[in-house]
Amino acid sequence: MKSRFRCFAAAAITVILSGAGALPAFAQATAYSDKPALLLGAAWYPEQWPESQWDADLAKMEAAHINLVRIGEFAWSTMEPLEGDFRFAWLDRAIALAEKHHICVVLGTPTAAPPAWLTTKYPDTLRIDENGIRAEHGNRQQFSFTSPRYREFAHQIAEKMAQRYGHNPNVVGWQLDNEYAAASFDPEAKAQFHQWLRKKYGSIGNLNNRWTTAYWSQAYDSFDEIPVRAEKENPGLLLDWKRFVSETWRSYSENQIGAIRPHADKRQFITTNTMGWFSGFDEYTVHSDLDIAAWDDYIGGENYDYFDNGARHDLTRGFKNKNFWVMETQPAFVNWKSVNASLARGQVRDMAWQAIGHGADAVEYWQWRSALNGQEEYHGVLVGADGAPVPVYAEVAQIGEEFEKAAKALAGTSPDSSVAVINDYDSRWAIDFQRHNNNFDPVAEMVAFYKPLRDQAQAVDVISARSPLDKYRLIVAPALNVLPKDVADRLLAYVKGGGNLVLGPRTGMKDEFNGLNVERQPGPLAGALGGRVEQFYALENKVPVEGDFGPGTASIWAEQLGVNAKDTQILARYGVSNGWLDHQPAVITRKVGKGTITYVGAWLDDALLAKLTSILLKKSGVEPIVPHAPNGVEVCLRSGKGKAVMILINHNKTDVHVSLPRAMVDLLAPAATERNSVDLPPYGVDVLESK
Ligand code: GAL
Repeated sequence: MKSRFRCFAAAAITVILSGAGALPAFAQATAYSDKPALLLGAAWYPEQWPESQWDADLAKMEAAHINLVRIGEFAWSTMEPLEGDFRFAWLDRAIALAEKHHICVVLGTPTAAPPAWLTTKYPDTLRIDENGIRAEHGNRQQFSFTSPRYREFAHQIAEKMAQRYGHNPNVVGWQLDNEYAAASFDPEAKAQFHQWLRKKYGSIGNLNNRWTTAYWSQAYDSFDEIPVRAEKENPGLLLDWKRFVSETWRSYSENQIGAIRPHADKRQFITTNTMGWFSGFDEYTVHSDLDIAAWDDYIGGENYDYFDNGARHDLTRGFKNKNFWVMETQPAFVNWKSVNASLARGQVRDMAWQAIGHGADAVEYWQWRSALNGQEEYHGVLVGADGAPVPVYAEVAQIGEEFEKAAKALAGTSPDSSVAVINDYDSRWAIDFQRHNNNFDPVAEMVAFYKPLRDQAQAVDVISARSPLDKYRLIVAPALNVLPKDVADRLLAYVKGGGNLVLGPRTGMKDEFNGLNVERQPGPLAGALGGRVEQFYALENKVPVEGDFGPGTASIWAEQLGVNAKDTQILARYGVSNGWLDHQPAVITRKVGKGTITYVGAWLDDALLAKLTSILLKKSGVEPIVPHAPNGVEVCLRSGKGKAVMILINHNKTDVHVSLPRAMVDLLAPAATERNSVDLPPYGVDVLESK
């Protein structure tokens, strides 16, 4: 049987011979001529420690093969202890000392933690929550993201830093702020929201019409009357508020980018660190101005869901459609869960290689050494307060050694997939505002589709619906609730051109104003599908489903589908349940142009969904990279520049044996060894190159 992996290897060789560009659509995030292609790092806070201890800390990092530190993201009160009194000499010395230890630096702008003088003298810079309560100084993230005064201060500190370090050869990039999250509901934010609405709708009459404000006498006479609320409001308002928040974080970034870019070398990237599934704003909007994507990868204890974590890596890769950085991850445990269980021995390494397998070019631990006081005294670290290694240090040192071994082979490579899952913030928000069944978590529903696809195809992209679609053989839109005409047109063009599109429940119910589409679901795609949703039902009990692909159940959500074209096929029907659904179509499909549209009207149980995805993958001509990989073994392939590197991770607590599709060179073995199969211990990892 012709495996996808073989197809790739052949294609890669063709690329080398023809001298064409890299095969995958994705690319490495950062590539420095004088720095390794894979970076291992830690968050280091020199401002929290006597300078006499810095050298010993950095020496221990170097001994663990750590070649990257992130510095500065909370150090505003050390950089500018009094208004206008800038002190950077300590940072000059910290960066220089890191360089002495062959450790490069990402600089964080310190704007997530303004100093007390700033918020005390200028209380208008403090954020106001939805209940109208203004934050006090303390903790962090207490600023208002719309405050023009705060932006002036943020611009100034970022500019001072860039003027000083924009050409520093040891500074490889910039992290703006830290984990953007909290919106503000202050009068300035309200005025800006009104302005944003004015620009979008032109006239208040137009807004009234789009939001159907005749409902509950909401009709507005002027934009200034519109309330600012993030819940329990008109769905049109709620969706626009989220979009406004997204645009505001984007302009918050632009303010600092404008301060840094004119003074910084082009090789220095600018990013911010994001938070996986966090839905506070649209990541695609915010990333439009950033050079690379980066995220903070935190999970629970030993039983972590590696599919969900892999999906979050793939999501982040999709923000820029190229490799990304893991800017923070846990050295075994965190301090902010209800039970801060530790990863088992071996799992920190398992997670690090999972990140690389999904396209990370850097992995950084938060944090190197805990501050002696402060809110995070219990958090996992690499060295204790005494500066001596804690047990996980040795595991990180092993990762560092392995990164060094594999860096050359992985340089210029990235994951490539012919399957995509669509992530759409408008739809996630629209469902979250009106779940109808509280258990309908749109992220959980997306992951329910992602899991079997990732398991069976071993490579999945998570992309925006506005991303290029042509390279995919199969695209799944799990719950594309908000479906504007332009997106529907793109999807239809994809299908007509030969793509296979799968729509999940609740797709196409809403227009871009979060109003109901007059045409029943999937709205603008109902005509092409030759079928539609007759009625939707939130489920208390499981409903039987019987299909071409086997029997199973639906829970949480089920839609009675109707078929109105002769060539629309019914793939599954409901069994007997509430009377309305009995024997009605649950999954339908139709050939359209050179491709197909399939509509799945229910949240199917995992086993049934896995059967359906396996049929869909087969029909789309997608084969696994490693056929018959054992359960719990994750297969990742990075390719590019004529190379193909496979990363195998055993997430099981037991040994496994994996047969390779062809002989490959083991990059982690003491001497380059060719293998046809690998044995992996619990949480074991191997990295193999195709020759
Ligand atoms: C992150 C944050 C870090 C640190 C870490 C602890 O969300 O960016 O500053 O607080 O959590 O897990």
